[in-house]
Amino acid sequence: MTSPSGSAPEPTTWRILEVTAVPSTDHPDAWAYRGIAAVDHAVEIATRGYDDLARTLQQVVSGMLHQEYAHKQRFVAVLDRADGGTPTADDVIGYGFLALTREHNTHTADVYVGVRPDHRRRGIGTALADRAEQAAADAGRTTFFTWSASPREAAEDEEALVPATGVGRLPASAAGGTRFALGRGYTIEQVERMSRLDLPVDPGKLAEFEAEARAKAGDDYRTHTWEGIPEDWHDGYAQLMTRMSTDVPQGELDFGEETWDAERVRVYLADRADSGERLLTTLVEHVPSGEVAGGTSFLLLDGKPSFVFQEETIVLKSHRGHRLGMLVKAVNLRELAARYPQTERAHTFNAEENAHMLGINVALGFRPSGAEAALQKRL
Ligand SMILES: CC(C)(COP(=O)(O)OP(=O)(O)OC[C@H]1O[C@@H](n2cnc3c(N)ncnc32)[C@H](O)[C@@H]1OP(=O)(O)O)[C@@H](O)C(=O)NCCC(=O)NCCS
Repeated sequence: MTSPSGSAPEPTTWRILEVTAVPSTDHPDAWAYRGIAAVDHAVEIATRGYDDLARTLQQVVSGMLHQEYAHKQRFVAVLDRADGGTPTADDVIGYGFLALTREHNTHTADVYVGVRPDHRRRGIGTALADRAEQAAADAGRTTFFTWSASPREAAEDEEALVPATGVGRLPASAAGGTRFALGRGYTIEQVERMSRLDLPVDPGKLAEFEAEARAKAGDDYRTHTWEGIPEDWHDGYAQLMTRMSTDVPQGELDFGEETWDAERVRVYLADRADSGERLLTTLVEHVPSGEVAGGTSFLLLDGKPSFVFQEETIVLKSHRGHRLGMLVKAVNLRELAARYPQTERAHTFNAEENAHMLGINVALGFRPSGAEAALQKRL
């Protein structure tokens, strides 16, 4: 494929290649994966100014090896080498990603593309997205999801892009990826608030949150914290993850229940481990029934000790109103501080209309640090 000519810099030729899975990060064919990780790093620096959210090489390689619950495809845009030689990681200027769930939501596809900032507006994003969407359509998928980050939400007096939910605003001048997707027929369904909590939280304040929540929850509820989730708890955790797929506000996104079982939890944890990720999880047990009533996890990345991600937090509907959301979060923060005192910050995402979860996070000290559009296209 050839980029449009006529403008500086010199016209360059490039191609789109599909990338197959490689068994390890040091495999000879892993150059494309190194290129993808480098593009992701450049995209994150350009969008957010830091690389905490950039996918590592290990995460990208491992993600492609775990396709038990989703068929995945990766594409790269690669510069043609003047010497006609084999491409290297430095020749990768963009990537496309496609995931097709296997068991549930089989009408949907996740599509994402990223292009190195120094190669944008030359049709590379379009070519990658065309390729991924075509593969999704060929597989019979009719609803496509994508997402795009902005460094902040729009100020009051700023031109803004607003989602179908009407809640949350993206700054029109700093939402290039969203505008790219809008141009492809996607609509903004939701805006998610990205938030950051500077760590450690004052231990006295945290102890107060925990004590208040425990007093309200009473003796019927008991918390358990682990790194990795013991097998006996996989059924209960599976129930929480099933409810995560339906109980979290998702606007008009055409996404139904993902039913989890213990086997899926096992695969999920194996995928995390192979990706160099660890989960620190607090679950709350309803002692009289033995039911897992709720839980929360931090995701820690090997070799990146300064930050964690606040992952799924959920309390089952039948157990709401007992401060369990605050309880599991306060306990998990206390455990994180005890085990990993060097952690400097936690990142999280919440739908702007998820008032309850945002309320807990704001009380704990999370502050807005960015925004993300959840976009959808129906064929
Ligand atoms: C979004 C992204 C992939 C676009 O890559 P690209 O190679 O520049 O895309 P293209 O050159 O094919 O752009 C096609 C059209 O999209 C629109 N577009 C792309 N970037 C835009 C921007 N920053 N602002 C407004 N419109 C934009 C334009 O209409 C453009 O056509 P034009 O250049 O003739 O005006 C790239 O900016 C990127 O990597 N962003 C960060 C990742 C991201 O947000 N991805 C989400 C989208 S799935």
